[in-house]
Amino acid sequence: MRHNHAPVILLLVLTAILPATALAEDGGGLSGETVYETRCLLCHPDSPDAEDASRYKARKDAVPLWTLYRESEGWQESQIGLGSWSDERMKEFIRYPKGMKPDTTMVGVPLNDAELKEVVAYIKELGRRHNSD
Ligand code: HEC
Repeated sequence: MRHNHAPVILLLVLTAILPATALAEDGGGLSGETVYETRCLLCHPDSPDAEDASRYKARKDAVPLWTLYRESEGWQESQIGLGSWSDERMKEFIRYPKGMKPDTTMVGVPLNDAELKEVVAYIKELGRRHNSD
């Protein structure tokens, strides 16, 4: 008597693959929101309301990042003279700001590739949230 083993094999394959996929979707590290809150929020407000907080008022270089993306138009011009942003250029800047602007006061934030991708996606999300198109 022949048994059809396909469902069992499929299940075994899925069990082997799923944990890896879940990790990749997680960014293989921290989520964009967590990266932003723990590594960027110190210097970059995440909403127009937050901008009024004294810690940002105290430093005039606290650049809001949600202004950099609009759902209808995509990436906008940099406020610090770095031209039009793209996902790739922004990842390059966050990884090593001085490479793009030698006299910048932004410090490099060490993140892995997945976290870089996640945080850039989160900056777009902030743009969608706070820029009315
Ligand atoms: C210690 C403070 C500090 C932290 C932490 C910080 N930044 Fe910055 N960032 C700055 C400053 C200051 C500037 C403006 C630099 C300049 O004028 O050259 C800047 C500029 C930027 C710009 C360019 C803005 C524009 O209008 O073009 C981006 C993008 C950016 N930061 C992303 C991030 C991200 C993402 C994180 C977290 C992973 C982060 N920064 C963490 C201080 C910080």
